[in-house]
Amino acid sequence: MKMEHRSAAQRPAILVARRIFPSTLQRLRQHFEVEANDADEEWSPPQLIERLQGKAGVLLTGTQRVDAALLAACPQLRIAANMTVGYNNFDLAAMDAAGVVGTNTPDVLTETTADFGMALLLAAARRVTESERFLRAGQWTRWTVDLFAGAEVHATTLGILGMGRIGQAIARRAAHGFGMRVLYHNRRRLDPAIEADCRATWVDKGTLLREADHLMLVLPYTPANHHIIGAAELAQMKPSAVLVNLARGGIVDDAALAQALREGRLAAAGLDVFEGEPNVHPGLLEVPNVVLTPHIASATLRTRQAMADLAADNLIGYLLHGRALTPVNHPPQPRA
Ligand code: 8YV
Repeated sequence: MKMEHRSAAQRPAILVARRIFPSTLQRLRQHFEVEANDADEEWSPPQLIERLQGKAGVLLTGTQRVDAALLAACPQLRIAANMTVGYNNFDLAAMDAAGVVGTNTPDVLTETTADFGMALLLAAARRVTESERFLRAGQWTRWTVDLFAGAEVHATTLGILGMGRIGQAIARRAAHGFGMRVLYHNRRRLDPAIEADCRATWVDKGTLLREADHLMLVLPYTPANHHIIGAAELAQMKPSAVLVNLARGGIVDDAALAQALREGRLAAAGLDVFEGEPNVHPGLLEVPNVVLTPHIASATLRTRQAMADLAADNLIGYLLHGRALTPVNHPPQPRA
């Protein structure tokens, strides 16, 4: 077999748009001419376009948009590999039209993210961060019978909105580990075998909102899902309920949520994602009964490494062998 020797000029050029792990970068450098972003600068769209000139691929995160303007300005770009499972930063219609493949990183983060969903639910229901702030402030002087008494989690009813891989992993934890009754709502009903494994029952959205003791949001962001939980939906929930948003900012109307929490119309919330993050609605910062984390649901080192590696494998697979591992679109006429 003839060995393939590519000179630097023949190797495809790629851009790694955020700082990633050295081992992943090193692997990419075995195959590509790599421009990295070691300083981890957050480039504006024009800066990203400038750096993408002459690049056939890009590894990026969900905060950088790939839209018609970028695609038109970067005619050599053939693949955008997200280091995320969510891909609402992709304009898929524009990518299909331009012949550019998008990829994401499913599966490798499912269990880690589901763990964090339970962490947020438990922390919010059992007032973990609120009571820690109290203790650190030196306010803990004596035991009282209802000191930081919170909401029960085990054996309650968990509602899950969005029932993809992460929703299912949360359902298994809730049903098998915490003895919870699990209800879910999704556009498509799951296969009965998967429902049985998750011990989850499909209900309509109204029933989900009304019957859930706690509600977990794990659906992808799309324009149709914008503010899918707003004032009207919050009003249908039990005032004793905890709401967890693991999905994306914009799924929840954060202003309406802050108001519901302030007025005691909802017991607590656990939020990892926010509208316009890294900014957080000031109303959410003011209320004590909300656990706020900076979009870290997938953040264990092992999982983030696996996400970076899968994004790298997508670039290697597509640019060197013509086959991406986890594409999210199939352009009819891929760019050559
Ligand atoms: C990412 C996520 O770390 O995978 C996703 O969709 O939300 C997170 O796991 C985050 O999007 C980085 O931008």
